[in-house]
Amino acid sequence: MNLGQSVTAARGEFRSRLGFILAAAGSAVGLGNIWGFPTQAASNGGAAFLLTYLVLAFVLAYPALMAELLIGRHTHRNMVLALESLPAMTSLKVAGRLTGVAGLITASLILSFYAIVAGWMLGFSASYPLGAAGLTSASEWLTSFAPSRNLLLMLGFMGLTMAVVLGGVENGIERWSRRLMPLLIATLVALSAYVLTLDGALVGLQTYLLPDFRKVVSGDLLLDALGSAFFSLSLGVGTMLIYGSYLSDQENVPRVGAQVALVDVGIAVLAGFLILPAMYVAEARGVAIFNEAGGLLSEDTLIFTVLPALFETMSTSGVWLATAFFLLMSIAALTSSISMLEVPVAYLIEKFGLSRRRATVVAGLCIAMFSAVIVFNFGSLFGLVITISTRYSQPILGIAVCIFAGWIWRRDALLQELRKNDTDAADSLFWRIWPFYVKWFCPAIIGAIVIQSAL
Ligand code: TRP
Repeated sequence: MNLGQSVTAARGEFRSRLGFILAAAGSAVGLGNIWGFPTQAASNGGAAFLLTYLVLAFVLAYPALMAELLIGRHTHRNMVLALESLPAMTSLKVAGRLTGVAGLITASLILSFYAIVAGWMLGFSASYPLGAAGLTSASEWLTSFAPSRNLLLMLGFMGLTMAVVLGGVENGIERWSRRLMPLLIATLVALSAYVLTLDGALVGLQTYLLPDFRKVVSGDLLLDALGSAFFSLSLGVGTMLIYGSYLSDQENVPRVGAQVALVDVGIAVLAGFLILPAMYVAEARGVAIFNEAGGLLSEDTLIFTVLPALFETMSTSGVWLATAFFLLMSIAALTSSISMLEVPVAYLIEKFGLSRRRATVVAGLCIAMFSAVIVFNFGSLFGLVITISTRYSQPILGIAVCIFAGWIWRRDALLQELRKNDTDAADSLFWRIWPFYVKWFCPAIIGAIVIQSAL
């Protein structure tokens, strides 16, 4: 038995195509889609933002997603070993390793703040039933901002994430994605159907669906839409690469990748049908959603003040609605956080031969510890970690991955990879367009946007 075989034999693999699509879409669909996308659409000209986002998701984010999935599937390794194994030259191998390590650190940083926010979602979802049962002080504790509550909820959420990752690819990630994703979609549809029947919902719908093109030319629309699409598809840090590495050689990667992107965008668009109407329903009930300058209140104010205020006006149905809404957010966060934790876990397993159990505990505890540092230095660290990891590190790593796929990966090896499941790959539209795209277009556009946002 050669080494390659023994490594593959020990690795997990998604059992079914649907399992993979749900897991990858689960990674992609998170707080970013359900909360970030609709609120940004609301403050960036509604449908105008929606259109820009759709275009960017397919011309820019999809090719970058394909770069990660294909490299992952080709090497069947985690990001560090994958990027190291693509080039033949030693100096490029070092560059690959460093890029991989930077991806691993970025994924861990993203998880360290994501777990805090996700913990709030858990707290809010438990607080409504507790309040209704008369346990007012517990309910208030869960929703009031304090380091002890932030810490405890973060640890609870990290515990859930570790529990799923501990199960491995098939029994943890795939199984839970298959259970949670349908639940998420059903909750989303039911909630928006209900909210659309309330007074004021129509104004929200109008804002969402009628484009205000003045906003397209002004402001940060393009930047926001790109950042949104990139964060939403979990790009740059090796989460999609590692999921791709668990994909069977029989699958047609361009096709399943497109399906993942479609589900991701679809759920973001669907979430708009819930969040925007809900905001205007709140306004119709006298809850302020705009600031004095006429702009929308900030995203966190909207979710943790405006929505609870809306639920308050609804008596019993409000309790149900609130619980369902925050559970929805918690589920979306969990299917994403497992993909982030899998990045360092897979590395520890494959590089140092740790058992999955040990790797999950080591990586999970390290990230939870760093997250605790953020909790106790919230004012100075929280925003900083978000900015560094998502505004700079993620897109820059995205460029690096495109460079590895477009410039360093040999064309014939790439074609061979595509031919694994499609003998006519050389004649496909994908083959004619994509290599050029990842080589020139993606790095240039992402680079321009990073530079613009840094200025
Ligand atoms: N895409 C997820 C969301 O929309 C978050 C996410 C998961 C992510 N894995 C990631 C973001 C890796 C950046 C990098 O919320």
